[in-house]
Amino acid sequence: MKIAILIDQPRKNYLPGEEGKREDIQKRKVVRDVQEVISKRFKCIVVTADSNFILKLQKEQVDMVFNLCNGIRGETRLAQIPAILEFFNIPYTGSSILGHTLSINKAVSSRIFKSKGINTPNFLSIYEEADLDKLEEDMDFPVIIKPADEGSSRGIHQDSLVYEIESLRKKVKEELKIYNPPIMINEYIDGREFTVGVLGYRNDMQTLPILEISYDNLPDHLPKFSSFELKCHYDGYRSEDICPATLDNELEKQIVDTAKRAYNALDIKDYGRVDIRLKNGVPYVLEINSLPGLVRGYSDITKMAEAAGIGYEGLIYSVINSALERYSSYGKENDVV
Ligand SMILES: Nc1ncnc2c1ncn2[C@@H]1O[C@H](COP(=O)(O)OP(=O)(O)OP(=O)(O)O)[C@@H](O)[C@H]1O
Ligand SMILES: [Mg+2]
Repeated sequence: MKIAILIDQPRKNYLPGEEGKREDIQKRKVVRDVQEVISKRFKCIVVTADSNFILKLQKEQVDMVFNLCNGIRGETRLAQIPAILEFFNIPYTGSSILGHTLSINKAVSSRIFKSKGINTPNFLSIYEEADLDKLEEDMDFPVIIKPADEGSSRGIHQDSLVYEIESLRKKVKEELKIYNPPIMINEYIDGREFTVGVLGYRNDMQTLPILEISYDNLPDHLPKFSSFELKCHYDGYRSEDICPATLDNELEKQIVDTAKRAYNALDIKDYGRVDIRLKNGVPYVLEINSLPGLVRGYSDITKMAEAAGIGYEGLIYSVINSALERYSSYGKENDVV
């Protein structure tokens, strides 16, 4: 079998500054790590998603694409490559157009969670500056301001947690200039934070050991959430990843159950990561990553795979096997609602 790892063109031209640059660096690392593993079992090539990529895939007669494309522009950019691959009938790993579209936009995914009775923070969506005038002055604070369709904490900064209306307006205006609308105003959930790796599809799902992101070691003056600055080791400080998280059985069960329900609600396939915080001891889903980072030893889901004993290789092969299984039962899957 021949697998093509498909990667994005650089994003730095569309998202300027440190955020675009770091995204590109991370993606290059992932390609190197994934290629090393896939090459051990399969023929493997790397293809960049440029304007000729379909011709290249056809010429190389690849059997499957290992899709690493987050897309570089547009509000449904994660879904663009799956859409093109489906049109040309080329099998690929991970979620399809639907799952990526629903999860890349946190305002849309939050609405779906709510409709399914899955707890998620209350939120408002701001599409343009004029929407700010409609806000009630006495809304509940604090809130956290974030773009609806970014990842890796792009657009989530130290000053994104706000306690009054003027700072809120200032931050939202700033973000409207850089990111796709809407900018979300989220109820700030102040409890412990976890992320849950899920593998597989629908009834054949398994979760990896839960990872806690602990902010306990941060000094008092730093807010306790994963801002972009903190992910870049702000002032030398960083949060701590604990995997497996220390949890009593009942809470662990609740978190796993919530993660699985959220994963299925958005029709995620093969692998994904569900971010959760506790509010009064109850799990609230912040978002789902339908294409979680795969930098070996760095990205959360790779740490979970180590803790599970399957390791990085086991994780990559599990993604491929899950995709192969889906395609081999193709037709059947479309009957399930
Ligand atoms: N409603 C919220 N309440 C509390 N903290 C939040 C909330 N929303 C986001 N955060 C904090 O901001 C971080 C990043 O938020 P979120 O997961 O939505 O963004 P992301 O950029 O998509 O993340 P990822 O790194 O998983 O791609 C979270 O890990 C959490 O620490
Ligand atoms: Mg997240």
